Amino acid sequence: MIPETMKAMLLTGHGGVEKLQYSEDFPVPRPAAGEVLVKVTATAKNNTDRKAREGLYPTKAKGEVTSFQMGGKATLTFPRIQGADVVGHVVATGEGVDQARIGQRGLLDFNLYADARRDINLTPDYYGHGADGGYAEYIAVPSNQFHHIANPDLADAELASMGMCSYQTALHMLTSARVKSGEHILVTGASGGVGTALIQLCRIVGAIPYALSQQDKADELLELGAEAVLDRSDMAGFTDRVRAVTGGRPIDAVMDLAGGEMTDQFIDTMIFDMNSRDGYPRLSIAGASAGNFSEIMWTRIYLYQVQIFGVSHGTREEAEQLVAWIRSGQLRPVLHAAFRLSRLHDAERYFVNRNSNYLGKIVIVPDSEWEQHGAAFALKE
Ligand SMILES: NC(=O)c1ccc[n+]([C@@H]2O[C@H](COP(=O)([O-])OP(=O)(O)OC[C@H]3O[C@@H](n4cnc5c(N)ncnc54)[C@H](OP(=O)(O)O)[C@@H]3O)[C@@H](O)[C@H]2O)c1
Repeated sequence: MIPETMKAMLLTGHGGVEKLQYSEDFPVPRPAAGEVLVKVTATAKNNTDRKAREGLYPTKAKGEVTSFQMGGKATLTFPRIQGADVVGHVVATGEGVDQARIGQRGLLDFNLYADARRDINLTPDYYGHGADGGYAEYIAVPSNQFHHIANPDLADAELASMGMCSYQTALHMLTSARVKSGEHILVTGASGGVGTALIQLCRIVGAIPYALSQQDKADELLELGAEAVLDRSDMAGFTDRVRAVTGGRPIDAVMDLAGGEMTDQFIDTMIFDMNSRDGYPRLSIAGASAGNFSEIMWTRIYLYQVQIFGVSHGTREEAEQLVAWIRSGQLRPVLHAAFRLSRLHDAERYFVNRNSNYLGKIVIVPDSEWEQHGAAFALKE
């Protein structure tokens, strides 16, 4: 029996966490034609929740408070339920959807695709931004984007931690830069959601990932697949440190999530010995955790022929490839902790002020699902 109303965390405007208001009687959505209604069990947190809330997506004017407008108009309207990387169980189907889907556990491909193209996604928008997301008890989504993943060895919260906002972005960073087997890849922001995905994906495609992170996270990053971990707390002599771990070879491509002042030094790691390269230096950038502005000398970029790729989300093809890798057990979850939906404010604050042992993802679980899907992953402090 599907109720008329549900609990949901509503974003009521741009601003601080006080803009998140917990509703106990928000209408349960009904599945439209081609959709499934999902009872949510876990939704992973992403940086974009905070950035969209705070209006940190300017594309032209400095200091502008705004969010994604890739398709030409603002799709973030209030109130909005955030939460992109949703896991749950199908409880009803819309017209034209096979009823056999009822009961299936799945992971949402979080994109609001503008068209049916499988190879390109030019106007990225997503559930939790341009449409309601998973910080609620129910969500209605397209049947063909709610991918059935049975894998009984993966808990729902663990599956949510492998959500597309991180993993599809990571894969698209690699495919944009045409990363291939045997290449040496520098991954910045390595311990985060996208970084931990990148390390694993490099290994799947046969590339060798070098992680830029902090020393206390080194053991876990090495265990995850990093070839070596470089400490970002001291960037002096960075290129020499890279040389030491690569055996003197330049980095083939940088997967940058840090941006800011550091990006120029990341470029140095690719161009210090052009004669020993066998391809162009390539920089994929999908995040700016260290700062939104970098001073880059354009003569360096064109004389050294550095190819730069801006990456946002990815394609349907890439989402399906990732689902195949999850099903076959080639990717593993990196889950830091779960929080109750009603405590999302605490999760947001924890995420911003995280301490040193933080790796991977935080997952939000509806209070009604907590004992079954959240309690085992509650924060240990
Ligand atoms: N373009 C897209 O579609 C897309 C999709 C997802 C995310 N993003 C963006 O990509 C970035 C990473 O996302 P995420 O989800 O992986 O974030 P995350 O889980 O918060 O991880 C970010 C990591 O960046 C590193 N970092 C933080 N502050 C830093 C600083 N001042 N200098 C250098 N490194 C710093 C930290 O890793 P270490 O301690 O290991 O250095 C941190 O764990 C964010 O900017 C996010 O908004 C973009």
